[in-house]
Amino acid sequence: MEDALIIQGGKQLKGNVKVSGAKNVALKVIIASLLFDGEVVLKNIPKIADVFELLDLIQKLGGKAQFEGDHTVVVEGKGISKNRVDLLHGSKLRVSFMMFAPLLQRYSIVSVPNPGGCRIGARPIDRIIEGMQKLGIIVSYDSNSGYYTAKLDKPPSGNYRFYKPSHTGTELLIMLGMLAKSTVTISNAAQEPEIDELIAFLNAGGANIRKSQTTISISPSSKNLRLNEPFTIGGDRNEAVTFATLAVATKGDITVSGLSLKLIASYLNELKKVGAGVETINQNDFRVFYRGALNPTKVETSPHPGFMTDWQPNLAVLMTQAKGESVIIERVFENRFSYVSELRRLGAEIEFIRLPINNPLEYFFFNFDPSKKYNQAIKITGPQALHGGVLTVSDLRAGATLAIAALIAEGESVVNGLSILERGYENFAEKITSLGGEIEKV
Ligand code: EPU
Repeated sequence: MEDALIIQGGKQLKGNVKVSGAKNVALKVIIASLLFDGEVVLKNIPKIADVFELLDLIQKLGGKAQFEGDHTVVVEGKGISKNRVDLLHGSKLRVSFMMFAPLLQRYSIVSVPNPGGCRIGARPIDRIIEGMQKLGIIVSYDSNSGYYTAKLDKPPSGNYRFYKPSHTGTELLIMLGMLAKSTVTISNAAQEPEIDELIAFLNAGGANIRKSQTTISISPSSKNLRLNEPFTIGGDRNEAVTFATLAVATKGDITVSGLSLKLIASYLNELKKVGAGVETINQNDFRVFYRGALNPTKVETSPHPGFMTDWQPNLAVLMTQAKGESVIIERVFENRFSYVSELRRLGAEIEFIRLPINNPLEYFFFNFDPSKKYNQAIKITGPQALHGGVLTVSDLRAGATLAIAALIAEGESVVNGLSILERGYENFAEKITSLGGEIEKV
């Protein structure tokens, strides 16, 4: 099985690229489709490993979920005949715990394993479980089997306020709100645009969900969810950021299309700040190009509308090419710098630094433990000449970052762990080749 990339670095990437549908919308919309009566037709679904894994999970439960035509997926939950997500799918897919919603729609007791996904910290689901409990769902965890069991005696009801927002937590509670017979309110909800797309999808099917800043109210609607028209999901903002970064990092010029520009405004602003050329062509197309020497920057990640955590690895590799000291602070996940040791293999000089944080319990979005030592900030001193090397991908976004680094490094690199990258990027190598990059799957 192909699980590595061989990259000859140093080529300028130029041309046009269209991003695929957003992974983090597709996965949730596929799961939410199981709440509908009848078939749901979804368009622009990316052909990536995480989507195939989810379709397989649903099929194993007895539901219908399959590609029918290019990037079109048809889903129907009617045939679901099991109330338990298997351990293998649960361990591979972060979103598997969202199956609580469609399973609880059908069964009063359901079992879902502790979810896997990218290794970017402990990634507990304590807030999400607390939210479920606040809505009246009885949840218990068996550490021997690694399974959560959820029991629903009466329709979910009530309100939940997230102590700190959770993106997928907000989405699961919205889906569970679909089973309620009275208005359910979620406050201090996450504000990621993927959540807005999920809400738009459910509302298109007849749901009654309203959002006002960080409060989401889900009111019962008189009819079951049903969609007579196909629903088309938007483009992937993380993929767009990867190509925007590649344009500047390889001293190239790339036009990116297929997503709404406002989704990555904070990244494009950062690129402008460091000296890249950014040109808006229209609402869905933009051009990013190298204009000359890059300036250093300082960013800290935060939930939407801030600078997204998934983007910082991209920026870090770009900043190895800027003149001066850049600082990147990670506030959302507790372990999102795994790529640092890999970049050092290419000769990058990146060091972990400690910054005085007055109130870390508030400042960080993960569950900060004062007795633990964290590496949440890096300093990059550039410009640095990167050379080829052998790299190993540890998480999806870091995977794209390592590929960017290899593409700007002088000489040949091997990036192992392509399968992790392909969980979220469709035709990554093919798209790079079409832009003039030298990359081969082996
Ligand atoms: N957290 C808890 N307890 C919880 C829930 C979250 O401690 O009950 C912590 C997390 O460990 C993290 C922070 O709170 O430190 C924020 O987590 P959140 O729940 O918001 O993130 P997520 O839902 O697990 C989603 C995306 C991530 C993306 C983040 C931020 C999906 C499937 N995943 O993760 O995407 O980085 O939101 O927007 O939508 C990716 O696509 O590669 C990816 C990691």
